[in-house]
Amino acid sequence: MNNIFLALDFPNWEQTRQFLDENNLHGIPVKVGMELFYKEGVSVIENLKDRDHAIFLDLKLHDIPTTVMRAMKNLAALEVDYVNLHALGGGQMIQKAKEGLQSKSASSHHTKLLAVTILTSTDEQRMNKDLRLKGTVEENVVHFAKLANDNGADGVVCSVHEVKKIKQSCNESFLTMTPGIRLRESTSDDQKRIATPAFAKAQGTDAIVIGRSITKSQNPKNAYAQAVEEWENGTSK
Ligand code: C5P
Repeated sequence: MNNIFLALDFPNWEQTRQFLDENNLHGIPVKVGMELFYKEGVSVIENLKDRDHAIFLDLKLHDIPTTVMRAMKNLAALEVDYVNLHALGGGQMIQKAKEGLQSKSASSHHTKLLAVTILTSTDEQRMNKDLRLKGTVEENVVHFAKLANDNGADGVVCSVHEVKKIKQSCNESFLTMTPGIRLRESTSDDQKRIATPAFAKAQGTDAIVIGRSITKSQNPKNAYAQAVEEWENGTSK
């Protein structure tokens, strides 16, 4: 597994399958988000597992601790590799989520729990004004990463630019999964804190998520290969 998770932000399974088949992207790590999961439900996970994809199920749970715990119990049964929640839900919610993932009725498969700190589409002004969180994005990201670490999460979803600080503040083995990745020629869309796969690797991130840079590319197969090349060798051709 190369730790490059392709964001399958497609409206349904048929278009997802077609994209994967046409571009010969068999068995690569993938991220399933709300759009696809809420359309297809559990069957999309079963289909992807049958095709040997590692799966990050990106549903970003945020609710009262008991509800999140029960939801995580059900998600554990899907035996995906990663699930996530919003650290803004608080320490108790994170603890309960972990408890749900590890409960006896859940399978013995170990699904890792990631916490979203501050979404990579949020800049400081929006964070201060809309969320009324004081300080810089980095200060808040580090705070939420520590909260997640202290309450049993396996890692965080964060920007590439925050990886080093998070590893220092939590510990080296605390996982970082970073979206907001762009290949050099693509636009930034709605992501504010972006970086290339090579830069992400150099910052020490454990895994990256790439969506539109590949799915909207003229040649997705080549774009994916470019991402792999940059991730593995630190440069692209
Ligand atoms: O197309 P793009 O590469 O921007 O896709 C990024 C993916 O990562 C999207 O599916 C988005 O929902 C997700 N994501 C994110 N920021 C986070 C967590 C997840 O962009 N903090």
